[in-house]
Amino acid sequence: TYVVTENCIRCKYMDCVEVCPVDCFYVGENFLVIHPDECIDCGVCEPECPAEAILPDSDDRAADWAEVNREYSQVWPNITRKGEAPADAEEWNGKPDKRALLST
Ligand code: SF4
Ligand code: F3S
Repeated sequence: TYVVTENCIRCKYMDCVEVCPVDCFYVGENFLVIHPDECIDCGVCEPECPAEAILPDSDDRAADWAEVNREYSQVWPNITRKGEAPADAEEWNGKPDKRALLST
């Protein structure tokens, strides 16, 4: 499965949701997650993310995020259409240590 990781926080570009063939993205206030049981591992979302926040779960950098994706994909609403990214998305792209800013 693929996993949304830390750099999505406050960037939330949402290009990913437009390309997913099975619509398995779920949306929080400043972050998106992938439902691990719905993702078919096609990989098309990975290169679409301007923040490079989507990784296969086999990637070490995804390790801390697999559980976050699983947990919140069960409570947040589904999203299938790209909305407006935060006005300051570019400023947050690449900032370290955003984990504490995740709104749940
Ligand atoms: Fe959707 Fe494919 Fe990305 Fe999984 S890997 S979230 S199925 S686009
Ligand atoms: Fe987040 Fe990238 Fe999608 S920033 S909302 S995972 S396009």
